[in-house]
Amino acid sequence: MLKKIKAEGLAHLSYMVGSDGKAAVIDPRRDCGIYLDIADEEGLRITHILETHRNEDYVTGSRELGSMTGATVLHGDMDFGYGQLVREGDEIDLGQAVLRALATPGHTPESMSYVLYDRSAGPEPVGVFTGDTLFVGEVGRTDLFGEGKIEELAPMLFDSIHGKLLPLGESTIIYPAHGAGSPCGGSISDREESTIGLELAQNKALRIGRREDFVRMKLEEVLEKPYYFARMEDVNLVGQPILGRLPRPPALAPGELSRFTEAGAVLLDVRAPSSFAGGHVPGSINIPREVLPNYAGWVLEYDRPVLLITDGPEVLDAIVRMLVRIGYDDIAGYLGGGVEAWAKAGLPLRSFPSIAPAELNAMLEKGEDVHVLDVRTEKEWNSGRIEGSQHVFVGYLKGRTDEVPRGRKVAVMCSSGLRGSLAAGMLHDHGFDVLNVLGGTGGWAKAGLPLVK
Ligand SMILES: [Fe+2]
Repeated sequence: MLKKIKAEGLAHLSYMVGSDGKAAVIDPRRDCGIYLDIADEEGLRITHILETHRNEDYVTGSRELGSMTGATVLHGDMDFGYGQLVREGDEIDLGQAVLRALATPGHTPESMSYVLYDRSAGPEPVGVFTGDTLFVGEVGRTDLFGEGKIEELAPMLFDSIHGKLLPLGESTIIYPAHGAGSPCGGSISDREESTIGLELAQNKALRIGRREDFVRMKLEEVLEKPYYFARMEDVNLVGQPILGRLPRPPALAPGELSRFTEAGAVLLDVRAPSSFAGGHVPGSINIPREVLPNYAGWVLEYDRPVLLITDGPEVLDAIVRMLVRIGYDDIAGYLGGGVEAWAKAGLPLRSFPSIAPAELNAMLEKGEDVHVLDVRTEKEWNSGRIEGSQHVFVGYLKGRTDEVPRGRKVAVMCSSGLRGSLAAGMLHDHGFDVLNVLGGTGGWAKAGLPLVK
C-alpha cells in the first residue's frame, strides 16, 4: 500500500507506505487524523514516522502522530529535540516493503531520502521519497540558510542528486515532498508523477552537468523566503506542540469582537476579494482562503490571536486546518453570522472599489491619474508586467508602504486578484485611495492587453 496525502495550498505531499500489518508515514502534516483513518481502513499499525529534513514551510505532524501511535520518529543528523537519528543504509523493515535511508544533503545539511524496495518484486528500487532534494521539474532551494551558505549547500545538493538519486535508475519513481505552488521550489511542475528517467529528460536543473555551473545557477536564483519559515524551522527542530484535537473556535457576536481586538487579536477575513472589497469589518485583513496557506505567514504575527471572518461556519474546519498547519494555534473565535450580522448590528463597514483589467486599461488610455502597483513575486514580475507599473511584493508591502505614491489612485495588481486584495486592504487601512484589479495580470493578458518584460 502506498498513498499520497496532499495538503492543498502548501502543496505539501506526505506519504504512507504499508505492508504486512505495518506502515511508515513520510513527512506527516500536523492534522494527522488522516493517517490513522488510512491505517484503520488498511488494517495497518503505524510503526515509523520518517522526516526527510527539518522542514521550514509547515509544522510537521511527527510528534503529534508519534504521540497518537507510539511510532518511532526518525530524522537526519541535526540537533533535533525529539525522535531518533537515522543514518544512510539504515533500513525500515515493513515486511514486503523496505525503506532504506540515503543521505542527500544540500537543501538542508541533514536531508535524507528514503528508497523504497518491494521484496516481492526484486532487488531494484521501486521509488524514492526525495523530500525537498528533487521535485518534479525542479530541485531543492539552497538559499534558506542565508545567502552565505549557498556556496556550501549547492555543491552538496549537486552531489546528492548526481551521486545518490540519479544512480537509483531511470525507472525509479520519485515521491517529492511538494508539488506546484509550493514556495519550497522555484518552478515545480504541476504534474505530480515522475521517474528519475523523466527528470533526466525534462528537469532543466539536471541538465547542468558541471558542479560549478549548478552552483552559479543557485547563486543567481531569486526566491522570496516567507517570514514564517524562521518560526517553522525553530518549531520543527525543537519539537512541535501537541494539539490533541483541532481547535474549534467559538462563534462570537459582533459586539464581542472588540474585547479581543483591543487585547491584540487580528481580524482575518478569508472571503473572496469581491466580497471583502464590497464591505468588511474595519481593521480586518483579507487573505482569501486560496492563498491563505502561502501568505498568512507573511503578514500574521504569531503572538496575536486570530479572529476569523468567513462566508459561513461550514468552511471553518478547512480554515482552522490551514492555520494550524503553519503554527497559528491561537484562534480565538469567528464572527458568528459573518459580515451580515455585523451590518445588521448597525456597525460600520469599510469598502473600496474593484475593477476589471479592461477598466484599468481604459483609465490608463484616458490618461487618468492612476498608479499601477504590482504585488506579485519577483519571478512573476520578471515574466511580464504592465508598462509603467511599480513592483513591491505583497509580502514586503507592510514595511514599504512609504514607497507607494499618495494622492493618486493606486490600482493593485497580482496574477488573479487574490493577493491583490490583501495588498489593497493593507494600503486602504494606511489611507491610500485603492482599487483592486480582479483578474490581475492573468485577466489582463486574457483580454489581449500587452505585458512587457
Ligand atoms: Fe524544505
